[in-house]
Formats: sequence, C-alpha cells, structure tokens
Amino acid sequence: MDFQRMKKAGEKITWLTCYDYHTAKFEERAGVDMILMGDSVGGCVYGYPDDGMPVTMDQCIFHTEAVRRGAPNTFLIGDMPFLSYEISPEEAVKNAGRFYKEAGVDAIKLEGGSRVARAMRAIVDAGMVVVGHLGLLSQSLGQFGGHKVQGRNAENAYELIKECRVIQEAGASILCLEAVTTEVTKFITQDLEIPVIGIGAGPDCDGQVLIVNDVVGITEGFEAKFFKQYANAAEYKCNAIREFVTEVREGEFPARENWNEMNEGEFEKLMELIEQG
Ligand code: KIV
Repeated sequence: MDFQRMKKAGEKITWLTCYDYHTAKFEERAGVDMILMGDSVGGCVYGYPDDGMPVTMDQCIFHTEAVRRGAPNTFLIGDMPFLSYEISPEEAVKNAGRFYKEAGVDAIKLEGGSRVARAMRAIVDAGMVVVGHLGLLSQSLGQFGGHKVQGRNAENAYELIKECRVIQEAGASILCLEAVTTEVTKFITQDLEIPVIGIGAGPDCDGQVLIVNDVVGITEGFEAKFFKQYANAAEYKCNAIREFVTEVREGEFPARENWNEMNEGEFEKLMELIEQG
C-alpha cells in the first residue's frame, strides 16, 4: 500500500486499532488500509484503568501476532509500549525488531518528538518503518495535565509543529496526530511530506484512525467528541449471553439439533457390557 501516493492523490487513509484474530479478519474483510495493535490493548482488553501504561512488550507481541494471523494482507503496525524505547536507542532497536521477527509487522509506532528522535533514527537505520505519534500522548499524559486538546494557542501550536518536523527528519514514514485543533492539523498536514493520520484532529489530515472498540460499540461509559460509534456490540453481546442463560435455565438449550447420539444399538450393547462386569 502506497500511503505517500494516497496523500498526494488526496485519497483518505483508513486506520483502526485491533487486538485479536477475529476482529482482524473483519477489518481486513472490510478493507481498512492500516491496522494498529495499539497499547490501548491495556484498556480495551485487559481493563487496566490507566490504559496502556502497564502494558508489556510480551503482551504487545502476543496480540500483534494474533492480529497478523487474522489480517495477513493488511499493513500492520505494532505499538511500542511505555519504556520499550526511551531507555536507549539500542534497546529501542531490539524491541522494535521483536515486532518484526515475532509478529510480522510492517511498521512500529512510538510516541514523542525530539526526545525520541535518536531512538527513531536508530530503528529506521536498522531497516524498519516507523510511525510517529504527536499531539496528546497517552504514555506521558501526566506531562500534559490530563486529556487536553493540543494547539489551542500559538506558542503550543508552534512547539508541536517543530516537533512534527523533527520526527519527519528522524525518518518517520507516517505521523499519527492525536487531539489537535483543526487549524494546526491542517497546517501540519500541508507542511509535512509524510501522511498525517488524525485521531481527534479534525477532517483536514490524510486519514483517520479510531479505536475499534469505540467504533463497534464495545466501550461503555466513555464518550469523546472525536469518536463515532457505528454499532452497539455491547448490546448484541449482552443480549446473546442473556438469551443463553435463559434458555439453559428453561431447558431450551441444548435442543435436539445440538446433541450427539451413539450409533444404533450401541447403547444396549454398552448396558450388556456393564452388566457382564
Ligand atoms: O494505542 C492506541 O490505540 C493508539 C491510538 C490512539 C492511535 O495509539
């Protein structure tokens, strides 16, 4: 998939997160352009209250590998979890390489600008494709003072624009821009040569990424302005489970078509065998 060409042609790039084999099959079947096994697996699968922070490299590898099996032909990005790339460029290259060797990814993503530029360059120099991530960053949420939209004022926007230029310079092939004002996103998208994909960053970027659990309606009790729920999977799932519980309690399940019987005459033979001891 040539995302650079899509940017130039003005074709919007579609990107979703994914954490498991079956959803990966659905995403590939539905024709999504890129899949991210994001560190949001922490909140979406493990129910960690602070989302991706406790997620480990091993957890990321297991889930990314499952996603790859479900979507063998879709551009797959592995998300470098907190502290897998910050300690040293050497460690960053080693951990990025695990995504390639053990999970068969096409690219890895890491958060940050100048502070991760050395690690990013080292990963690119080792032959891997890097997706950058700027704007509001979940792995350093404390430094942002919580969930705050970025680029509301000129100084903050200028710093963000400079950071975007740094990561393009460091070799990133794609940039994910999270929770950024529309004017600033538009500027960055036109300023950079690489495709810019937004989440909560308005319409004027080269594509959109969302968390699949939000899209299909699995997430409950969380509503953000930037996402759109296209189905109510929580209700479907809950209704199916409720029906199962009711049918078992009322003796409706399993029904005749759900059970297996012995071959003709074999039960009588079994009784004889038991009688004979
Ligand atoms: O982990 C994740 O789901 C992400 C998205 C917000 C892009 O990084």
